[in-house]
Amino acid sequence: MVIKPRIRGFICTTAHPAGCAERVRLDVETAESAGGIRGGPGLALVIGASSGYGLACRIQAAFACGAKTVGVSFERAPLGDRTGTAGFYNTAAFDRMSKGRGIAGASINGDAFLPETKAQAIQAVKSLGGKVDLVIYSLAAPRRTENGVTWNSVIKPVGSPFRGKSVDVQTGQVSEVEIAPATQSEIDATVKVMGGEDWLAWIRALDEEDVLAENCVSAAFSYIGPEKTHAIYKNGTIGKAKEHLQNCAREINALLTPMGGRAFVSVNKALVTQASSAIPVVPLYISLLYRVMKDAGLHEDCQAQAARLFGLLYGDRAAPTDAQGRIRLDDWEMRQDIQAEVERRWQAVTSENIARLADLQGYRDDFLRLFGFGLDGVDYDADV
Ligand SMILES: NC(=O)c1ccc[n+]([C@@H]2O[C@H](COP(=O)([O-])OP(=O)(O)OC[C@H]3O[C@@H](n4cnc5c(N)ncnc54)[C@H](O)[C@@H]3O)[C@@H](O)[C@H]2O)c1
Repeated sequence: MVIKPRIRGFICTTAHPAGCAERVRLDVETAESAGGIRGGPGLALVIGASSGYGLACRIQAAFACGAKTVGVSFERAPLGDRTGTAGFYNTAAFDRMSKGRGIAGASINGDAFLPETKAQAIQAVKSLGGKVDLVIYSLAAPRRTENGVTWNSVIKPVGSPFRGKSVDVQTGQVSEVEIAPATQSEIDATVKVMGGEDWLAWIRALDEEDVLAENCVSAAFSYIGPEKTHAIYKNGTIGKAKEHLQNCAREINALLTPMGGRAFVSVNKALVTQASSAIPVVPLYISLLYRVMKDAGLHEDCQAQAARLFGLLYGDRAAPTDAQGRIRLDDWEMRQDIQAEVERRWQAVTSENIARLADLQGYRDDFLRLFGFGLDGVDYDADV
């Protein structure tokens, strides 16, 4: 079939296998050209490995460090005239490329929250003949279901309504939005889905099966962002989940420290991913940020952030952290000069001037590329 993008709100319901493969190939090339990392992981487990930050870390582990990898994700295979999800094709491309380079690994398509998926991953670690020395937890899930109960993660403010500017990325229309605050059960559900409970459960399960290597490092990801996004992010439902994640990092750290390991929360840069495009206000902020960071020569994508993370985790010195023990990959984004310029543009932006003040096209291009569209060298009229 010939596959075209079909965009519904903030998602694209189709994905292009050849385009996804090309995107993965480009990221692999970037990781390989960065060269081997001394003392990098030997066997990495990546939970949420099929797109965004998780895929970038898996690529970095396998292709910059030569590590074996076990990747866990929850994706849909193609069925009839429905394409698979982008993450399904990304994983297929990763598997082909790593096999081609003789790098061993296993990809598991299953719900990470379930004990059986954890058991499957542990079995894969064992059959790869080792223990994991890196565990990346990069899940961005809309929901969690256990024993017939479902919790849905929501992106809402806490306490009072949020009012602020937002953009319709497809039309470029800038408008004011108002989002009602979350109820307590919505807050609790978001913490249940996006907090640290499952990260801790993974580490405990790995520990019980004795597959954590000495010196095992584990990292999960968070975001803070500037004041203008705090009501919807840092102080909102997702921020509550990230606080929980941070508390679990302490517990995981206490578990790993006796074996010479460490656990971190890494605060990453705002980037276009399937998860971030679902958050109101964030697309406007990201398109302004992209313009300012690209003009300043400071823009990074997920692969560049993963490279920096690995450089910090496996550098000669202990990874520098902030007062809360977090790694800060958002340092360039949060630079005072960058934020001052984003703020100036934020105040001025309208539907009329957004093309000049923001990198809306860059946002749209990155969004389409998430689903394998808009890549050079891919024949989008071909029957695939
Ligand atoms: N994108 C950003 O701007 C940004 C910035 C800082 C931190 N983060 C954080 O990084 C992490 C990853 O986010 P992303 O933006 O890379 O997301 P993403 O949407 O690109 O990837 C999410 C991954 O989670 C997997 N997943 C979802 N539900 C699952 C389930 N039930 N079982 C197994 N796998 C499942 C998906 O298959 C996919 O591999 C999140 O914790 C997010 O909050 C994102």
